[in-house]
Parts: sequence; C-alpha cells; structure tokens
Amino acid sequence: MSRTDPPADHPGVDIRPARPDEFPLLQAIEDASGAPFRDFGMPEIADDDHLPLDVLARLHVWVAADPGPVAWIAAEEVDVHAHVEQVSVHPDHARRGIGARLLDHVQEWAAGRGLAGVTLTTFRDIPWNAPYYERLGFREIAVLTPALEALVAEEAERGLDPVKRVCLRRASDEGVRGRY
Ligand SMILES: CC(C)(COP(=O)(O)OP(=O)(O)OC[C@H]1O[C@@H](n2cnc3c(N)ncnc32)[C@H](O)[C@@H]1OP(=O)(O)O)[C@@H](O)C(=O)NCCC(=O)NCCS
Repeated sequence: MSRTDPPADHPGVDIRPARPDEFPLLQAIEDASGAPFRDFGMPEIADDDHLPLDVLARLHVWVAADPGPVAWIAAEEVDVHAHVEQVSVHPDHARRGIGARLLDHVQEWAAGRGLAGVTLTTFRDIPWNAPYYERLGFREIAVLTPALEALVAEEAERGLDPVKRVCLRRASDEGVRGRY
C-alpha cells in the first residue's frame, strides 16, 4: 500500500493537482475551514483573508476530490523542504483522514524531488493545529533557518502573533502510517 492509498475504512478521495479554474472554489473551502476558529474564540483567524489567486498560481496545489474538490493543500520549496502554505478541509468532510492524506501526498512529492521533508507553521495551542501535526509525526524545529524566520515575520505582518506560532517538520524518511 502506498502512503496515499486510503485506509480500508476510508471512503476514497482522489488526490490530484488543482486546476486554475478551481482556485475560487479552493478559496471558498479555505474560508469554510476557518469556522472552528470562531468557536474557539479566534474570530479574526476565522475571518482571515484566503490565499489570493496569484499566490495559489505560484504554489504547487493539490485537491482531494470526492468527486469535486472538498479539501486542498498548497506547498512550495523552502530551503530543502516542501513547505505547506495551507491545508484546508471543508468542515462537511473533516475528520475522515483527508488532511492526513494530503500531508502524506506532499511528503511523497517532496521525497520524489529529493527534498528532506515537509515543514509548516501553525498555531502551537490549537487542537487541530500543532497537536494534530505532532500526532502525525511532525516535530518542532528548534532553530529556524533564515527563510523560515522570514516566513514567520511575514505572518506577523499579517497579524499572526509569532509567540503563538510554531514551525514543524516531518522528515522524508519517516513513515507516516500507523501513528495516527
Ligand atoms: C487541520 C485540518 C486540515 C485537518 O483536516 P482533517 O481532514 O479534518 O483531519 P484528519 O481527519 O486527518 O484528522 C482529524 C483530527 O484532526 C483534529 N481535528 C480536526 N478538526 C478538529 C476540530 N474542529 N477540533 C479539534 N480537533 C480537530 C483531531 O485530532 C482529529 O482527530 P479525531 O477526529 O480523532 O479527534 C482541518 O481541520 C482544517 O482544514 N482546519 C482549518 C484550517 C487549518 O487550521 N489549517 C491548518 C493551518 S496550519
């Protein structure tokens, strides 16, 4: 079984590259996926702007289709890693393992390009952020590279408090099945 095959009890979704004409739908999925932040007392994050079309156009973007897009992930190369800029699962399709599969997909893509793994920045104390990724095998990066420092600084300019953010990494040679 490859990393991106669905578990036996999972209603399969296809993971494939996004088409540019789907980008507005992906923005709507991102908007919808912010809803849990509102319930968590972070309405400003729930209402945060989605990624602009021109940014989506320069990233590597994949969708989980069931049969239309219900979730997506976008990454770019930063240092020697695939850095996940955004992963969003529509709330109607959440908690079915789709987010984990999208992360596995980027991990395989990164390994295929000879990259050392996957990185991302996220909220340290939100249950479906850092604790979720840590359950999937991501670990905190103790010392940020200049490129990651710059990403955190950009986030701060957009209003994301760097004290609440954490940068995580999962190496290419770490298995991803079985820990979740
Ligand atoms: C984070 C996210 C991508 C996870 O996708 P997903 O397909 O629902 O995740 P999975 O099915 O792989 O894993 C589910 C686990 O995620 C965590 N989780 C997901 N949604 C959660 C919520 N609303 N509250 C608490 N935990 C949640 C739980 O650990 C859950 O496991 P459980 O169902 O056994 O309790 C999705 O919740 C999302 O799009 N969130 C909004 C956007 C976001 O926060 N993006 C990441 C920014 S770095």
